[in-house]
Amino acid sequence: MKQWSIPLIFAAAGTIGAALATAQSRPAAANPPTSGEFFKNVTTSTLKGLTPSDFLGAMGVMTAALGYDCSNCHPGAGTDKMDWVTDSNPKKRTARKMVEMVASINRQNFAGAQMVTCWTCHHGLDQPTTSIALDKLYGEPNDEKQDVVVRAEGEPPAEQILDQYVEALGGTQKLAGIQSLIVTGTSKGYESLGGSARFQIFAQAPDRRGMWINYPERPDRGISAWTYDGKTGWISSPRGYLGQYQLTGNDLAGAKLDSVLTFPAKIKTALSNWRVGPEDIVQGHDVYVVQGSAPGGLLGTFYFDTKTHFLVRYVRQTPSPVGRITIQQDYDDYRDVNGIKFPFLYSFLWLDGRFTAEISDVKVNVPVEPAKLTKP
Ligand code: HEC
Ligand code: HEC
Repeated sequence: MKQWSIPLIFAAAGTIGAALATAQSRPAAANPPTSGEFFKNVTTSTLKGLTPSDFLGAMGVMTAALGYDCSNCHPGAGTDKMDWVTDSNPKKRTARKMVEMVASINRQNFAGAQMVTCWTCHHGLDQPTTSIALDKLYGEPNDEKQDVVVRAEGEPPAEQILDQYVEALGGTQKLAGIQSLIVTGTSKGYESLGGSARFQIFAQAPDRRGMWINYPERPDRGISAWTYDGKTGWISSPRGYLGQYQLTGNDLAGAKLDSVLTFPAKIKTALSNWRVGPEDIVQGHDVYVVQGSAPGGLLGTFYFDTKTHFLVRYVRQTPSPVGRITIQQDYDDYRDVNGIKFPFLYSFLWLDGRFTAEISDVKVNVPVEPAKLTKP
């Protein structure tokens, strides 16, 4: 599938970010507007009811499913002359019909459950293929995974795998003693924007977290930040490219989950209905696959090394009418800091970009500036 170019996406989201930031400078607790109200030309039966931030997530799902970038449907996206509102591009008009088609297939055949998505047919192509290539038929079996993990026979109970993880990190007592964290490193993945990027995570128990990327030698490049302050969540990207917007709807629930999980002693209560699927291999590690759910359809899937019991990957998915919005976080190179193990290699992948951070320093129970945990 085509990888979105980071500058293009940032540029694309820039104007929207600015607009969202303005519209959402109302009090955080107020109901966010629906996309049908907020945007000028959003009319499909399923997308118009989403919050604006979930709507943009759905745009990301559609874009990824077709191997597109925003400009394939929105003229000028990525330039100053973008026009999100116009329907001049036939692909946008087709996409709108496809959104209704997907809704009606699911309604008529799957009792409204989100079984068919853009990806089901498109698989990263704008023209879905119709036949299997015989090389594929006799080649490697398709190893794509279902989002929803089905319980497998013969695997340890989820409780046990989660306990082993907590134990491997240093045990409940030690982990419960973590009240705050400052993690510092450098991040790769923004090379196209130039300069070397400083990466930091700030966290305050039980559920506040800020992840920041900036360029110490090039302050003009601005910051990227993902924050959750216990109530409201924000995404911000470099000035001149992506603006800033407040998370709403499922997006907000996901940010909250990430924050809670920064303090792993609480992992068991962060989600419910835990289930264990068949073992798998992730980044060369044999892993247990453990999944939990939260109200609203949020899924958290965790891949634990079967030998070290460390978390190798955490994927969270939130539903949208065109397919789930996925964020993946990978962890590696666990090292000891005052008797607690922390990953020193961290990757973050979402629908419009990815980066890897090499951690150089982890500080536990140091004061955290509240400003690092809230609106950037
Ligand atoms: C496959 C085509 C397609 C792609 C790719 C696509 N969009 Fe859209 N976009 C649409 C359609 C269709 C609508 C109208 C949806 C509706 O009516 O419910 C829309 C509407 C919008 C709107 C609302 C504009 C307004 O005020 O009416 C914004 C903003 C938007 N898209 C942003 C994006 C961004 C950002 C990307 C890239 C991440 C993107 N879109 C990629 C098809 C697409
Ligand atoms: C049931 C299968 C199926 C699903 C699900 C589906 N599509 Fe399609 N889509 C097609 C087929 C088949 C075509 C090609 C139609 C043609 O060429 O006339 C197509 C064509 C398109 C095109 C035009 C591409 C071009 O080259 O002009 C767009 C845009 C598109 N789909 C968007 C979407 C979006 C967005 C979704 C999810 C909301 C979606 N589709 C879901 C089957 C599907």
